[in-house]
Amino acid sequence: MPDHPRSLLAAFLAPGCGERLFRHAAPHPAEPTGFCFCDHGLFGTLKVVLRATIFQVVCAFPFNRLTCAVLRLGGVRIGQGVYISAGAWFDPMFPHLITIEDGVFIGSGARLHSHEFRPAEFRAGRTLLRRGCFIGGYALIACGVEVGEGATVAAATVLGRDVPAGMTAIGNPARIVQGKP
Ligand SMILES: CC(C)(COP(=O)(O)OP(=O)(O)OC[C@H]1O[C@@H](n2cnc3c(N)ncnc32)[C@H](O)[C@@H]1OP(=O)(O)O)[C@@H](O)C(=O)NCCC(=O)NCCS
Repeated sequence: MPDHPRSLLAAFLAPGCGERLFRHAAPHPAEPTGFCFCDHGLFGTLKVVLRATIFQVVCAFPFNRLTCAVLRLGGVRIGQGVYISAGAWFDPMFPHLITIEDGVFIGSGARLHSHEFRPAEFRAGRTLLRRGCFIGGYALIACGVEVGEGATVAAATVLGRDVPAGMTAIGNPARIVQGKP
């Protein structure tokens, strides 16, 4: 794979880049795409594997302060008064693309993604949970999605679109409804 797509991704990942979503054509992800951490040598691979393991271990336990502290050290931006239930999952590939504002609740088993392989495309995205939103258990939040202030994401929702402030996203694929359903 030529260097060019990787340098485009590096520019997207750089601090100060204001774009929300990076998309690039890529081979089928069963082949080397050039975008996976495992395509960048042993050191790069070990770094992500170690981060993934630490995230997974700390998120297995119901010690919210410790979870928040470790995720912050790992790059996730987390505000004050955030509650992360045991069993939540945070994408270890680009943790610094995930931002969780103050007062957010994240249910058990919820998954917050910052990248996505598709059959012929790679994506990375800035995922933003605005102040006071509620993420139900086992919800899947795709990369580049923004959940608005005070919004609700129902349990097990597969969310690939933004949720406006105060609204509820529900189901798979998610539909957006006014207030609570
Ligand atoms: C979104 C939610 C808050 C709505 O609760 P509610 O206002 O009591 O809604 P109801 O249970 O009355 O359901 C209203 C409608 O939404 C549907 N619905 C509710 N939750 C749903 C879900 N997770 N997925 C799909 N449909 C759902 C119901 O089937 C019902 O549809 P209908 O009107 O066609 O019969 C709640 O369903 C939910 O998902 N809570 C998350 C709880 C959670 O995960 N907590 C964290 C655990 S650690």
